[in-house]
Amino acid sequence: MRRTLVVGNWKMHGSRPANAELLAGVLAARPFLADVAVCVPFVYLNETAATLAGSEVRWGAQDVSQHAQGPHTGEISAAMLSEFGCRYAIVGHSERRAHHAESDDLVAAKAQAALSRGVTPIVCVGETLAERESGQTEAVVKRQLSAVIHTLAHCAAEMVVAYEPVWAIGTGRTASPEQAQAVHAVLRAQLQAATGRGDAMRILYGGSVKPDNAAMLFAQPDIDGGLIGGAALKAADFVAICRA
Ligand code: PGA
Repeated sequence: MRRTLVVGNWKMHGSRPANAELLAGVLAARPFLADVAVCVPFVYLNETAATLAGSEVRWGAQDVSQHAQGPHTGEISAAMLSEFGCRYAIVGHSERRAHHAESDDLVAAKAQAALSRGVTPIVCVGETLAERESGQTEAVVKRQLSAVIHTLAHCAAEMVVAYEPVWAIGTGRTASPEQAQAVHAVLRAQLQAATGRGDAMRILYGGSVKPDNAAMLFAQPDIDGGLIGGAALKAADFVAICRA
């Protein structure tokens, strides 16, 4: 039985007062049946960890360096994240693939760096609209996932996967539950073939998940929760999705 996991991806949003209000709203709504986590900007990790300590709500980062340490100005290592009690690190978000030229191999190296320090990578995969319209969805997500499976090898079953069609992120245009389920089934089969533990692994859906569509998406057999952007910034919306 896979437990539903709902992760808020705050992206580059927030401020100390806004975060305090948001986290207070999430904490007040406990307990949740689902596992719940928030991935916050690096600078807010310390305060987030302090605020959530002792609760079952987890916290994580939105990226991690592939390097262990050294002359990498501006980078944050997995060892540093683990010092702050990070449970998760998002890697390979499409915004980083597109705007920071992150390749499949780099994403895989980041996933490995996270795992080596006990931080669970949430590995994002997803096709652009052009790729979907030209019938390449399956090939693209399988290629993206395959790089990570290869690199993590016998540890691949430790990751969380997030399917995020690029055309659905921040656009208000969600994949239909059937469209999302079809891709999740492909990813699960790939994970099962590679690790033998695909049935136990969590595959999240991300891309314009809102309180009014979350339940339909999460009801699909291979959708194990969500990676939530915009709707994770309002406690009432995020809580409604965690309860969906
Ligand atoms: P969205 O973002 O929910 O605002 O579409 C999801 C994500 O990018 O993780």
